[in-house]
Amino acid sequence: MSVNAQITCSNRHPAPAHDEFIVLQGICHDYQTAGASHRVLHNVSLVIVRGRSYAITGASGSGKSTLLNILGLLDQPSSGRFMLEGLDVQASTSDQRAGLRNRCIGFVFQSFNLLPRLSALDNVALPLLYRGVSRTQARLRAGRQLQRVGLGERALNRPADLSGGQRQRVAIARALVGEPALILADEPTGNLDDGTAADIMNLLLTLNRNDGVTLVMVTHDSGLARCLDQRLHVQDGHILARDARHA
Ligand SMILES: Nc1ncnc2c1ncn2[C@@H]1O[C@H](COP(=O)(O)OP(=O)(O)OP(=O)(O)O)[C@@H](O)[C@H]1O
Ligand SMILES: [Mg+2]
Repeated sequence: MSVNAQITCSNRHPAPAHDEFIVLQGICHDYQTAGASHRVLHNVSLVIVRGRSYAITGASGSGKSTLLNILGLLDQPSSGRFMLEGLDVQASTSDQRAGLRNRCIGFVFQSFNLLPRLSALDNVALPLLYRGVSRTQARLRAGRQLQRVGLGERALNRPADLSGGQRQRVAIARALVGEPALILADEPTGNLDDGTAADIMNLLLTLNRNDGVTLVMVTHDSGLARCLDQRLHVQDGHILARDARHA
């Protein structure tokens, strides 16, 4: 079956407890550097169950961001099988993957990745414009998301006029505006002070627990990892799964 770009991954209708959202089987990933191939993910197999939360932990350079980029359809694995909602991602076209990503996945990057020339409002509205939503509607919905993350008053500010914590909240609003079924966050609190980090964490956990959004988060902080349902520990490109609260 091919991936249908129109597929909607609604998180509004809770699925059965053991609904497999993502299945990776024997995923390998190689980077080419200086003419040589360098394997950074080795035979990774895992299941992401809808509605659960996962912490990806591991040493710097172990392959956490590489894995997250693959889960988020930002990068294609070199080999292995990748099913998302029962659909074969490997067999899809790049347009289909872009459509699926836009509709199903909200990505929060450690470095925010906001467009500097756009206001907070327009940064948040952008994923909706890509979907063909009218500018007026997109801005309306973006404004609501900014209010949700406590930034309604700063909607017209550009990223340069915002603090790190505020920028990260804009990035989270942008990830949420399309009502994704899955949020992937790469060290979302890594650049923030403790208080702001706790606010951001609470926001992500509320989305997971109250709205059923599946959450996969890279973190170096074992305290944060323990707040999530399961830990996926990456070691030299191999994955070790263990329950976060008993690690
Ligand atoms: N675009 C790339 N080209 C070549 N090698 C890369 C590329 N991106 C990452 N790597 C290498 O792949 C390995 C895994 O990198 P990755 O960014 O996934 O690590 P990480 O676990 O996220 O580390 P950190 O905690 O420092 O963010 C590293 O050895 C890195 O140097
Ligand atoms: Mg990383």
